[in-house]
This record gives sequence, C-alpha cells and structure tokens, in this order.
Amino acid sequence: MKAIVVKPGSKGVEVRDVNEKEVQNFGRVKVRIIENGICGTDRELVQGKMTSARAPQGRDWLVLGHEALGVVEEPFGEFKVNDVVMPVNRRGCGKCNNCLMGRADHCETGEFVEAGISDMDGFMREYYYDDPKYLVKVPKGIEDIAILAQPLSDLEKSVNEIIKVQERVYWTCNDGTFSCRRALVIGSGPIGILVSMLLRSHSFQVTVTNRREPTEIEDQIFQEIGAEYFNSAKGYTELKGRFDVIFNASTAPPTVIEDIIPFLNYNGVLGLFGFPPSGEMKLNFQEIQKLSLKGVAILGLANGQKPHFEDAMRHLSQWKITWPKTTNKLITRTVHVDEAPKVLSFKEENEIKVKIRW
Ligand code: BGC
Ligand code: ZN
Ligand code: ZN
Repeated sequence: MKAIVVKPGSKGVEVRDVNEKEVQNFGRVKVRIIENGICGTDRELVQGKMTSARAPQGRDWLVLGHEALGVVEEPFGEFKVNDVVMPVNRRGCGKCNNCLMGRADHCETGEFVEAGISDMDGFMREYYYDDPKYLVKVPKGIEDIAILAQPLSDLEKSVNEIIKVQERVYWTCNDGTFSCRRALVIGSGPIGILVSMLLRSHSFQVTVTNRREPTEIEDQIFQEIGAEYFNSAKGYTELKGRFDVIFNASTAPPTVIEDIIPFLNYNGVLGLFGFPPSGEMKLNFQEIQKLSLKGVAILGLANGQKPHFEDAMRHLSQWKITWPKTTNKLITRTVHVDEAPKVLSFKEENEIKVKIRW
C-alpha cells in the first residue's frame, strides 16, 4: 500500500509503497483512510526539526500523520462497516494510572507514543487496523470538517482544564456563565481560530492577537464568532485592560510570553499550548513575585484524549449551524496524496487547514 513516510531527524518526505507487514497495526477494526489533515507538527517533522520525533523500534522511518478520517472496512466491536471514524493519536504507556484510565494526555512516565510523531506509525497510509478503544465515531453531517476534531480535541482538553483549575475561585459571572471573563488568544493560525471559537462557545469575551493585520478571511471569521482582533506589530501597549485567560496558540518567540504576562488579571490563567521551536526568555523574580501575589496559574496544556474528541465532534456539529460562514472557510485546500510532499513542505498564504485525500 501507499504511505507517506519521513525519517525522523532528517529533512524530507516521500510517498512510497510499504508492505502491510512492515508497518504497525493496533487492533482488529480495519480502517480505510479517506483523508488526513496537516498541521505544524507534520511540517516540523518534514523539516527534520521535531525534537520528539522517533521512528518505531528497529527502523529509521516512520509513517507520518496524526489527523485522520477513515471508514470502517472490517468491523469489530461497536464499529460497523461504513462507519466514519477518527483515531485518537496519542496512546498510553500501559504503566501509569492516567494512561490505564484512558488519559495518556497526563502520562506520568513520559513513555506514551504518538501516531506519526513518536514511536508509532501514523495514519497517512491507505489503511490500517485499530482497537475500538481508540476510535471515535464521526456524527453524520460534519464529514467535510471532521478532520478538525483532532486539533480541536487538544483544545477541548485545554479549555476544560482551564475551567477546572478556576474552580479554585468564584469565576462564573452573574448570569452563571463566563460572559464577564476576558480571554486573550495569542496567534490566529488554525489553533488560534479553533480555540477562539471554543472560548466563545463557553461565553468568554475573546481578543485574538497576531503581529500583523488580520487577513480578510480572519476578519470575516472573527466577526461571525464575535471575537475582537488586536494587531501587536507595535507591541502590546495599546492593549486595553487585563485578561482572565491568556492562551498561547502560537509558535512565536518566547519573549511574547514575557511581554504578555503583565496583562494577566488577578486569579488569571496562562495557558501554555503553543511552544516556540527555539529562543530564550527571562523572567525576573519581581515579575514572578507579582504572579504569585496575583494568584496566577500557569498551565501546561497538550494533547486531547477520546472524551475530548467526542466533545470536539459535538462542537463541530453545533458550529456548522451557528457559524456556517466560518466553518465553510476553515478547510482552505484539499489535495491528492501525490501532492502531499509539496503541501507538507511549505505553508500557503491564507492557509487554515489543508487536507490530503486518498
Ligand atoms: C498534536 C497533539 C500532540 C502534539 C505533541 C500536536 O500536533 O495535535 O495531539 O500531543 O502535537 O506531539
Ligand atoms: Zn497536530
Ligand atoms: Zn503513562
């Protein structure tokens, strides 16, 4: 079968034939891949720059792909032929309690594996076999945008945890929702857009920031979902007020964190989701002391598991109805597998999500 293959640590990507026996499979449900999504992680892998990238034991190559949509070809368990499904991309270490309870996002040994990233073949191939435990059913009517459920799952988990952590204070507003809480989203890429949609769905006031003017598409999206945009090209001095949540959805240099910290409100949360590939930042003790006096929480956020994929599916179904213009704009390009190396090697202007079709 055809597969999209990389060599972790070196630059390059190719579509090539692999033998069914030489790639990893994980269970009894045979899933035929319909499409894959591409994200920044895939491109870092292709550039040979992803530091956590690792091939499965015994070889130096890895099947790429952690965003996938497929259709069941050989049924097993609750999965029937023709069910549209999406795989959970991170799998547990099999040792720690969190992993044993389906929460590999909080693995305590660090020995989890990630499809198409570390120690586990990914989903950019014609078909593979999986365990029902790791498959999520895609509801009818959202097949065209369902690929977004993977990145969105990471964000569902993140917003859930921010809300959970804030149970430490009286944080809901006088209408019982989060409508008086202000969130600042750093970055207006696919992650910035999706987390803004999610925060709006949880009633937060949302300001999205990037170091440039918004594109026309971004402008239309933020209007429809009711988010404000702030151009930070000249810094943050004009940014008004403080924020209860600051969510880093960018890979901007770490100094951005340093610059933004003074804008955190009392009892605020700084969500660290996007990580810059390199760079340095300094925090002096007075700034840290201020954070402590303000009761700020800094939260490391990565990866979503099955319950978060399910939340993501529900939100995508809802958003198709409430924000149709936005949901129609999120997939900016669909290419055939043979063109995958090209779209994996550079990011197009105005790109939000690119899909590869099998
Ligand atoms: C994936 C996450 C994963 C992370 C770190 C992201 O691109 O969406 O699920 O945990 O990369 O490898
Ligand atoms: Zn990703
Ligand atoms: Zn674990």
